[in-house]
Amino acid sequence: MVEWPGWPQWDERELDGLRQVLESGSWGGYSEALGTFERAFAERHAARRCISAMNGTVSLVAAFAACEIGPGDEVIVPAYTFFATASAVRLAGATPVFVDIDPDTYNLDIGAAEAAISESTKAIVPVHFAGLPVDLDVLLPLGERHGLVVIEDAAHAHGSSWRGRPVGALGHVGSFSFQANKNMTAGEGGALLTNDDALAERLWSYVNQGRSPDGSWYEHPHLGSNLRLTGWQAAVLRIQLDRLDQQLERRMASSRFLHEQLAQFAGLRPLLWDERAESHAHHLFVLRYDPAGFGGLSRADFRLELEARGIPSSAGYGMPLYRQQSLTPPASRVTPCPVAERACEEAIWLGHNLLLAEEAQLAAIPEAVEDILTDRRRLAERAESHRQGGVAA
Ligand SMILES: Cc1ncc(COP(=O)(O)O)c(C=O)c1O
Repeated sequence: MVEWPGWPQWDERELDGLRQVLESGSWGGYSEALGTFERAFAERHAARRCISAMNGTVSLVAAFAACEIGPGDEVIVPAYTFFATASAVRLAGATPVFVDIDPDTYNLDIGAAEAAISESTKAIVPVHFAGLPVDLDVLLPLGERHGLVVIEDAAHAHGSSWRGRPVGALGHVGSFSFQANKNMTAGEGGALLTNDDALAERLWSYVNQGRSPDGSWYEHPHLGSNLRLTGWQAAVLRIQLDRLDQQLERRMASSRFLHEQLAQFAGLRPLLWDERAESHAHHLFVLRYDPAGFGGLSRADFRLELEARGIPSSAGYGMPLYRQQSLTPPASRVTPCPVAERACEEAIWLGHNLLLAEEAQLAAIPEAVEDILTDRRRLAERAESHRQGGVAA
């Protein structure tokens, strides 16, 4: 069986970084490690400003607060995403409006989003699902036309780009997560990117107890919280960022290989990789599974067969978010989402750590699928010969 690359990945450099923070005595607060990481993360994503935070949920809440989005306001979100995209809207006191996704990318269906805009709509939160940027050629003008704040949920999209421009600060503000499973991680963590200096100050203030950057420690002109990242996390993330581009290239090469290899199977359709995304983080490699292509084998059984051949996978989100008890109306407004419903039934996710494997290892995936198909064919032949009263081969 294939031994897949593990995650997280680290080496002596993380140890050195942690030791430096230890010896500096600057473990929290506005430490040097924090500033160094924020500048490097902003630079990598061609953004003017980066404000780090404890995780990618509170960073979204901070974005809503800094954009003055709250009670009485509606925020458009995709129905197929992680809970936090919508729970953060609720935590800010606003109402999420759930909109369907595109069947080929699982990103926000922008036409459906436009149709869902009401007088109360203040913001739209495209999620760059699995690392593929949403169609920003259409989304950004839509935001402008309707005077909406665009908050990119880039939790899956470290280093992704659209027409050569890194995501994160292409809307008004973008939010990243460094949770344990993300493409860059410090166990937990988050960051906000923006090109708007005034917005950056409000974000900074919200994350730093309502202080102002030029005020004193016990001066709190705004309402805010303490959502800061520690020096430990910042030091680890600085090193993880150094590894990002090499890993990005590897994941993209693996994805190209899998697209090519899996295209031969009628029952498996990978999500499309829009060519306008020169860089695609591939936080996940997502297949759309059709039991008809595997003699009626259910998705759950297909995944068990993969598992038995050493290929770990996930069925992904179990339900569209409007079915989560805390997010059903009247806590939200829901528009028809047949594609999101289907995605919960058909998706199979492969984790980004698999994509770090070399091609020879990755070949185990199409080989496993071929093997499952061969088994299914044998089974069907046996059943047929049994039905005809013959002897099974
Ligand atoms: C799309 C999306 N948004 C937001 C989050 C929240 O990030 P965190 O877990 O760092 O709070 C996550 C991941 O966990 C996510 O996948």
